[in-house]
Amino acid sequence: MTERLELYRCDICGNLVQVILSGEGELVCCGEPMKLVKGKHQEEMITEKHVPVFRINDDGNNIVQVGSVLHPMNDDHYIMFIETISEDKKHLELQYLYPGEKPEMILENKTGKTLAYDFCNLHGLWEGESD
Ligand SMILES: [Fe+2]
Repeated sequence: MTERLELYRCDICGNLVQVILSGEGELVCCGEPMKLVKGKHQEEMITEKHVPVFRINDDGNNIVQVGSVLHPMNDDHYIMFIETISEDKKHLELQYLYPGEKPEMILENKTGKTLAYDFCNLHGLWEGESD
């Protein structure tokens, strides 16, 4: 049984999928059950560059940036996407990112407490929450 908005990963091919509507069945990829991925909050040494941080930028926009110290965006090590989910789980925003870009996204519609995920190609899924 899956839950709405859970993320599942295939260790063989790297597919990462998100559940839009939950169902009874098991998710399978490359012939193996997919693994539920949970966002990390803390890991020795690399937390400050991975946990998403909510702030207001110089233009007055609500943004999520990856890391209190910005994460690198090199060809071999970068943030692949940022996603935010409203507290009531009714509204999502997703932005894909590429090497050379700034690891941040502007929130178009932030209302109340918001959860953010980001995904590093080397260090996996991280999560943080707004105030
Ligand atoms: Fe990383």
